[in-house]
Amino acid sequence: MCGIVGYVGDKQASKIIIEGLKRLEYRGYDSAGIAVINGQLSIKKGKGKVASLEKMIGSGEKGSIGIGHTRWATHGEPNDINSHPHTIESGKLAIVHNGIIENYNTLKKKLSEQGYTFYSQTDTEVVAKLIESFLEKDASSLKKAVQLALHQVHGTYGIAVLHSDFPNQIVVARKGSPLLLGVGDGEMLIASDASAVAAYTDKVVYLDDGEIAVITKDNYTVESADHIELSKEVHELTLSLEEIEKGGYDHFMLKEIFEQPKAISDCLRGRIDPDKGTVTLGGIDSIMDKLVNANRIIIAACGTSWHSGLVGEYLFEYLAKVPVEVEYASEFRYKEQLIGEGDVMIVISQSGETADTLAALRAAKERGALVIGVVNVVGSTIARETDAGVYIHAGPEIGVASTKAFTAQVTVLTMMAIKLGLSKNAITIKEAKKLISELAKIPQKIEEILQNTSEIERISNLFSYAPNFLYLGRSYSFPVALEGALKLKEISYIHAEGYPAAEMKHGPIALIDEMMPVVVIAATHHTNDKMISNIEEVRARKGRIIAITTPKNDEVGDLAEFSSIIPETMDVFSPLLSVIPLQLLSYYIAVNRGCNVDQPRNLAKSVTVE
Ligand code: G6P
Repeated sequence: MCGIVGYVGDKQASKIIIEGLKRLEYRGYDSAGIAVINGQLSIKKGKGKVASLEKMIGSGEKGSIGIGHTRWATHGEPNDINSHPHTIESGKLAIVHNGIIENYNTLKKKLSEQGYTFYSQTDTEVVAKLIESFLEKDASSLKKAVQLALHQVHGTYGIAVLHSDFPNQIVVARKGSPLLLGVGDGEMLIASDASAVAAYTDKVVYLDDGEIAVITKDNYTVESADHIELSKEVHELTLSLEEIEKGGYDHFMLKEIFEQPKAISDCLRGRIDPDKGTVTLGGIDSIMDKLVNANRIIIAACGTSWHSGLVGEYLFEYLAKVPVEVEYASEFRYKEQLIGEGDVMIVISQSGETADTLAALRAAKERGALVIGVVNVVGSTIARETDAGVYIHAGPEIGVASTKAFTAQVTVLTMMAIKLGLSKNAITIKEAKKLISELAKIPQKIEEILQNTSEIERISNLFSYAPNFLYLGRSYSFPVALEGALKLKEISYIHAEGYPAAEMKHGPIALIDEMMPVVVIAATHHTNDKMISNIEEVRARKGRIIAITTPKNDEVGDLAEFSSIIPETMDVFSPLLSVIPLQLLSYYIAVNRGCNVDQPRNLAKSVTVE
């Protein structure tokens, strides 16, 4: 979603800001803009890519302080006027904003009555005029004017404000939308995402909700909502530039698909011992007692993370014999929230910033439940607000369509389920040893799949122009069917549905004819016979079967028109392998269709609005 970058120092700010905005492109956006002070404040902005903004600026934009933005439209269509930064009549102020100002209409009406004119349809312009109104009363401090304006605002924001009467400072504030300060040597940066500052500094300060900061080239001050000056912890970034570059691949998504053996090895490293049959997860050691005694586990997440949560449900119930419910984080709040002490919520989030997941986390905590995070981005809001957690250590995921985060999340959930199963005596040490030894082999098995992608490429070429796809699976393969369908929708814009295979008879079967590709995930053995029946049902209606299956399920291979054979593993681990050909299928189809794989239309990597 929207991205913010800012710079103050001795260098040409526009160059650094454009570079930072490019690093944020992956979050998804429709417009871009920049404001720089060089004597006067100058704003350049418009609908379209950062590359167009860069051309608009040329090399002539001097000035060593500025802010930039990539916009993902919420209020008002994507166009030049609605793009950020927004300004005021005198042109002296520029503001960029992530989030949503919920009472903007009321504020706009009030300000219009006071004589302010609005040019855009955005909620952000209202904040610009509101700050101006306070500066008109007292022009001594930009920070104070921003603070007073924010007191009147309901909603969420990460904002950065620049004013040519205060030419050496940027004022930033956060409530519900991530913002961090990058602390350099004689220069300071701000960003909504660490990847935008990683090239310049490895020292960052994360702002918390309600905080406001003023940054100058040599200094920063942070104040809490009740005006107390804070001494904030400086964190060290572990992000390397290599990790956020394509490294020879055509797309980040392809790079990330191929990184999965490494991502899972990194995720497992130091955490499993196949000889002893033990799992060590430092982040949840202190709460293991509560987890063991939990009445039930509620998993809350969105998108792909919700799918890994569904796999988690099977894992926890099978390996630890604990009841699990999986909730869309966005829907959790609309239910009677029958959660409290004795319950455990696991929130799963790659970015650690998804607004709905954060809201579910806060609601569960308020009611006394213990909340555990399964998060990728270190230092993210969800990681910081949970009671305990396990990082997935997948490294930065830049492609909007999540791939390595999914498999790493499932890996963490698997380790948690084994650990809990052992603690609850639901599995024996002997069983744990067997499970863990097989888990340790998963990276190598994924590598095997990735070494030969020719068949999946061939299938992709044949079906690139299909308007619809159906994905079917049972048990552990059902969430994989959902994930496969989601991947295809996200990046190739083909309508695809994932279904529990048996449910096909209750609706989707009506769609099957010789035009319909049906991807059958027959990767678990305990469901094999039933899957074969479903395949026969599809064949009888001339559907085109693409099977993801294993050598032992040879009957499936024989019946399917096309198959992608993945290595054998235990049923519990099958999602970690069966999802790989589905990721590749969607990738190759999207490339064939000329789609923008890494930045699919309308989607955002990190959804920070509810
Ligand atoms: C967006 C992304 C998805 C992701 C979902 C949840 O929709 O495009 O790839 O699965 O958000 O994000 P999270 O960061 O919470 O896992």
